[in-house]
Amino acid sequence: MYRTHTCGALRLTDQGQEVTLSGWIQAIRKFGAITFMDLRDRYGITQLVLGENLKETLERESPGREFVIRVRGRVVERSNKNPQISTGEIEIAVEEFIVLNPSRTPPFTIEDQTDGGDDLRMKYRYLDLRRSILRKNLELRYQVNRVTREYLHQQGFLDIETPFLIKSTPEGARDFVVPSRMNPGEFYALPQSPQTFKQLLMVSGLDRYYQIVKCFRDEDLRADRQPEFTQIDCEMAFVEQKDILEMFEGLIRTIFREVRGLDFEGSFPRMSWEEAMWRYGNDKPDIRFQMRLVNLKAPQGAYPSFEPELQHSPLHQKETGFRVMDEAETVIALVVPGGSETSRSELDLLTDWVKRPQIGMKGLAHLRFPAAGPPKSSFDKFFTATGLEELARFSQASPGDLVLILAGPEDLTRKAMAELRIRLGQNASLRDPDQFRPLWVVDFPLFEFNAESGGWSARHHPFTAPGEADLPRLMAPANRSPVRGTPYAHPYYQIRANAYDLVVNGTELGGGSIRIHRREVQERMFEALGLGPEESSRKFGFLLGAFDYGAPPHGGIAFGFDRLCALLGGSESIRDYIPFPKNNSGRDMMLDAPSPIGETQLKELNLRLNT
Ligand code: AMO
Repeated sequence: MYRTHTCGALRLTDQGQEVTLSGWIQAIRKFGAITFMDLRDRYGITQLVLGENLKETLERESPGREFVIRVRGRVVERSNKNPQISTGEIEIAVEEFIVLNPSRTPPFTIEDQTDGGDDLRMKYRYLDLRRSILRKNLELRYQVNRVTREYLHQQGFLDIETPFLIKSTPEGARDFVVPSRMNPGEFYALPQSPQTFKQLLMVSGLDRYYQIVKCFRDEDLRADRQPEFTQIDCEMAFVEQKDILEMFEGLIRTIFREVRGLDFEGSFPRMSWEEAMWRYGNDKPDIRFQMRLVNLKAPQGAYPSFEPELQHSPLHQKETGFRVMDEAETVIALVVPGGSETSRSELDLLTDWVKRPQIGMKGLAHLRFPAAGPPKSSFDKFFTATGLEELARFSQASPGDLVLILAGPEDLTRKAMAELRIRLGQNASLRDPDQFRPLWVVDFPLFEFNAESGGWSARHHPFTAPGEADLPRLMAPANRSPVRGTPYAHPYYQIRANAYDLVVNGTELGGGSIRIHRREVQERMFEALGLGPEESSRKFGFLLGAFDYGAPPHGGIAFGFDRLCALLGGSESIRDYIPFPKNNSGRDMMLDAPSPIGETQLKELNLRLNT
């Protein structure tokens, strides 16, 4: 028998019992003739005491860290108790000590605070996973998985598998492709998501589908992106947007309650995409803290519907003589509450930060609005004191605040200000990791204009339906005209999608939409995206065909499962929650993949390398 108990099980009440334990040696401490060992398994750590009786065995076996051993002994009370661990009141007086398997010295310490770098730990991931911190992450992942399945099962969802060797699904990334030996010169694509399959399942009448499923996307990696990641993928038929938001708000609530013991008050707030972009600079605002962006000058033709006062901005259609502002497409302000005394050197640091190539701004202007006395700014000579005060007040600053100002091209400036906002929030400890603020972002634009190609692309994916009120805009033949001048004036720019994202603490946890379910609408959508009838039929004929056979109205959502786990566990990096992740170059360091394949295999696959 290998064990009567696990290394996390024994307590003072077990005193006197004879027990057998197996596990890994975490640490060895020698005190004269007595040796102490920490024995570890998945469940915890138990202290072993080995006395004179085992002197010879220890000399013979010379056990070291990570040896797998089995011991038999008696549970005794510890003289110096360790309140940090559950077994801290007892130890095992060992009578028999057997090495089940020796170990080489591990390449890094298997402790919560390890000395191993990222790549080394990835290479020996099986050792990394022995660390309790990672084991706990996998336990959390399993718990989220289990709670999700239970909730969806209760709601009548069916878990249905969909294939991995498929044809391209357009989710905005590159496909991973797999050559087909049996069909020379042809390739499968791995799914970027099961999007089209789940829609087909709705056509089949399986009106509540879900799957916890791998998705594959060949895109640049970041802390919250992996080339293969997992989604909680869901679809429902005969539903409207509100039904989906309610159903999945329920799922997220249940997960947070079961996994973190947290209850959200009231229903999740909703914010239009437009408001998110104008007030927070991006479509996934962290609303744990305020600090909203104020536009002082909108790009020509673009005014937010909820902020008409922008047209009374001190910079609107006015020449100030300050070229940075006059020539910029947009000027955005951000108020740092109580920041009027911010030091010169701190401002310099922020300026250097916005000038980094990753942010790409030319500079950062500032305006101090002191508690007493006139405002002072980095562009004083172009404004009177009253003008400066007007600018500060328009930016929503109060006396004692600091106003930071960025000017430049629309997209870049918004993005830069959004990042600056997050950084300032972080610096001011306003991003409390124990506080969770969910938010539905709704009413996304259906299309995005691509200035380079001069064409439109789908913001979500091409199967997303326009909002009911905007359907005529998509269908009207007159609106097929190409963009001339600013895209803001084109009717397609005005079309809102029936799409929604769930954002928590600035992380996009999930996204979905009501789908197009009528063939003529889907065809028009493909056409707007520049796909001719022949191409759309070649790529998506199966879906268009299915719409001819009674497709029900339907919609769905997918959550980033890894992101959800990382968020619940309080980490920025999803890698810590994935058992065998890839590094930032998309490599599996343990397997050393990707790797070249041999001539024979290439030949079999009908492939010739170009290098
Ligand atoms: P979307 O592309 O928004 O939607 O993906 C859904 C969610 O998946 C997560 N996610 C990722 N997580 C880790 N690594 C990645 N590379 C990665 N890419 C996306 C995000 C995201 O919100 N088929 C649609 C869903 C639908 O319309 O129902 C889809 O895949 O958390």
